[in-house]
Amino acid sequence: MNQVPPFAVVSGAQVHQALDGHETEVVAAVETAYRLHGEGQTVNPDSYFLRFPNRPSSRIIALPASVKGEVGVHGIKWISSFPENVAAGIPRASAVQILNDAETGYPFACLESSIISAARTAASAALAADRISAARGSRPTRVGFIGVGLIARHLHTYLAAAGFAFDAIGVHDLSAEHAQGFTGYLRRSAGDGVEITVHDKAEDLIRSSDLVVFATVAGEPHVTDPQWFTHHPLVLHVSLRDLSPEIVLESWNAVDDIEHCMKANTSPHLAEQRAGHRDFVAGTLYDVLTGSITPPSDRPVIFSPFGLGVLDLAVAKYVYDRVEGAGELHTVPGFFHELKRYG
Ligand SMILES: NC(=O)c1ccc[n+]([C@@H]2O[C@H](COP(=O)([O-])OP(=O)(O)OC[C@H]3O[C@@H](n4cnc5c(N)ncnc54)[C@H](O)[C@@H]3O)[C@@H](O)[C@H]2O)c1
Repeated sequence: MNQVPPFAVVSGAQVHQALDGHETEVVAAVETAYRLHGEGQTVNPDSYFLRFPNRPSSRIIALPASVKGEVGVHGIKWISSFPENVAAGIPRASAVQILNDAETGYPFACLESSIISAARTAASAALAADRISAARGSRPTRVGFIGVGLIARHLHTYLAAAGFAFDAIGVHDLSAEHAQGFTGYLRRSAGDGVEITVHDKAEDLIRSSDLVVFATVAGEPHVTDPQWFTHHPLVLHVSLRDLSPEIVLESWNAVDDIEHCMKANTSPHLAEQRAGHRDFVAGTLYDVLTGSITPPSDRPVIFSPFGLGVLDLAVAKYVYDRVEGAGELHTVPGFFHELKRYG
């Protein structure tokens, strides 16, 4: 007979401890999730966006998902984005992840998930950068970050863990204070001999980088000139809405999931509306992983990840297993009550 599982609450401190220094395993967990997704072993419906008429900049998104195979759980991420938080000195995003038992459907854990979400996003982009660079036959040495908040910091950590060694790092942000904060972080963590430059203009950063990371909160394209990309950089378009349709249409494009990415006015979605088709998308990261598509070295290459709930599940399950393995799960006694059908 199936048992009702105990219900555990996993704090951000525990999540941090489980993930910190384990970037390689997190990238492996994310690759597993992408492969299961590509093999049809997942259910990943549309995200649901809760928006507020009196506060259009903010939103809360629900990402339900299910993964079979070695991950073997269902669940949902519930993640808020309130950009005005940053000015008040607290992070923009906050989140919880619920894990449900695949057998009984019972939720068995609630994990702090802003760190899991940032880690899976960074791991996904680092995995893409690693495999796309390998296929193009050259590893970038000059990276530029446009929009330097929490995601950019995690991305820098995960790129380093994936073996990228940069000679030069460019920084561009609309906020001089954020650019300065990120530069301070880089000086402490990037190692000696790395040239760090704050660029006032996105154009200068893009033209001087062979790997460009977009992690802004831009709602519509602010980079519009394809001429800035004639040196064929690899672009990790994590924030999804920075590039004009012209740039997307003149580049080689990979996404994480084509159906998901062609929604919510992402740059690929705008390009589809402009072109009247989606032929400009070569395929998915899964196709890159399996070698069924090969990114070219003589065109700009853009990876636009919509962000799949299955990645959150895979990383959350990894965290849960580590915390459980260490004997440090905090369960809530009596969380499920009324378990006898007739009392
Ligand atoms: N694709 C995914 O899977 C995924 C997952 C998580 C987060 N994200 C996205 O990543 C982005 C960054 O998240 P974060 O938590 O680091 O946000 P954040 O608010 O901490 O940082 C964003 C930074 O971008 C800067 N910025 C905003 N507009 C800019 C512009 N036009 N040019 C240059 N800088 C600009 C802001 O000043 C800020 O410093 C968000 O858009 C978020 O939705 C994507």
